[in-house]
Amino acid sequence: MGQGLKTVKGTRDLLPAETGIWAAVEAVARRVFASYGFGEIRTPVLESTELFVRGVGESTDIVGKEMYTFADKKGRSVTLRPESTAAVARAFIEHGMASWPSPVRLFYLGPQFRYERPQRGRYRQFHQLGAEVLGDEGPTSDAEVLLLLLRFLGELGFRDLEVLLNTVGDAASRQAYGEALRAYLEPYRDRLGEDSRRRLVSNPLRILDTKVPAERELLADAPALGDCLSPAARDHFDELRRLLDRFAIGYCLDDRLVRGLDYYTKTVFEIVSGELGAQNAVCGGGRYDRLISDLGGPEVPGIGFAIGLDRLVDILPQKFRQRAAGGQPVVVAALGEVAPEHAIAAAEALRGAGVAAVAELVSRSVKATLKRADKKGARHVVLIGEEEVEAGVVTWKDLSRGEQRRLAIAVLPAEIGGA
Ligand code: HAM
Repeated sequence: MGQGLKTVKGTRDLLPAETGIWAAVEAVARRVFASYGFGEIRTPVLESTELFVRGVGESTDIVGKEMYTFADKKGRSVTLRPESTAAVARAFIEHGMASWPSPVRLFYLGPQFRYERPQRGRYRQFHQLGAEVLGDEGPTSDAEVLLLLLRFLGELGFRDLEVLLNTVGDAASRQAYGEALRAYLEPYRDRLGEDSRRRLVSNPLRILDTKVPAERELLADAPALGDCLSPAARDHFDELRRLLDRFAIGYCLDDRLVRGLDYYTKTVFEIVSGELGAQNAVCGGGRYDRLISDLGGPEVPGIGFAIGLDRLVDILPQKFRQRAAGGQPVVVAALGEVAPEHAIAAAEALRGAGVAAVAELVSRSVKATLKRADKKGARHVVLIGEEEVEAGVVTWKDLSRGEQRRLAIAVLPAEIGGA
């Protein structure tokens, strides 16, 4: 190993204490998503660069500044996926999913890559858990996706997350709004930075993503997207809001929420947490009725979301965290002159009965064994000394109750189950 080799900036290792929690969150996701009929899709981490240029949009920050793009050995431009919705849309087209029973419901879990400035909750390799419904244009799908999302978050124990909701309208509304925004900003052209001046021509809506304070000030009095909605987009939004009320889903209307990706039409939403600081979005999503056709596929609408797992785990309710961290394997130790194979045999017997166990391979004193077991967070310890071997029993210690008993290994699983 070379000296000082470390993870690449903005990436990190997740060690067992954390991966246990991640796996528990993922297990809840798999169960809840399956209960809504979603099947898992695994797409490659590497995609052709063109997919994101066409799907996410050339004038977005993601495509313009944040992609890990490089030429492979044959000179083809490839990109580490910065998000997965475009990849799911590509897969939908590639596998002819338009002929599957509609709508197609998919979910995914996996790493994404964006070259952003690292800070709390913002990594260059981060992880998303996402879901997409492809093939239904009605607001019922929007409501169902939000129901799924909130049930999942509820099962993790989240109670006070805020749902921000807006509509960016259909293509006609966006066109009308883009023109209104351009007309409003044109007189202030020289107060805009280089990026925004370019976007004024190519894609005025993207100026709303600006973080430049002077530009944000200018935008405070800009026309609102809501004033440019087509009747169809307005009806869709009204019906969605009625459904959210019907299912008691609380939300805040946020008419400045436009999201940083170009594919959105109509409904957009985010889930934010006050506990996260500057990077407060735990989840982002919305409808994308043109994405699949823009990528060369059939006219199939879609809606979905992606949760940032790094942020979600960061603010996971303590109760869930504790439950997930519990259940450490039983520690089995052979003491003194007793050969370690006795510990392995007892551990195997426990595993055979469905109880997780780890054998200590180096004999230690009782004191050292108990100390190590406690440090690992184990609740149960099995000690095998010479007397135990002779009597054909083991000594079982329940550290949380401070009790100990001698018994046959065969009855231990039932005792531990009842403890
Ligand atoms: P997004 O808003 O770009 O949307 O990302 C979704 C979530 O991923 C964010 O809310 C955040 O929690 C997390 N995230 C994004 N960037 C980072 C980062 N650098 N470090 C840590 N977490 C991050 C999308 O990606 C869309 N594909 C969502 C979607 C699915 N829309 C429709 N379907």
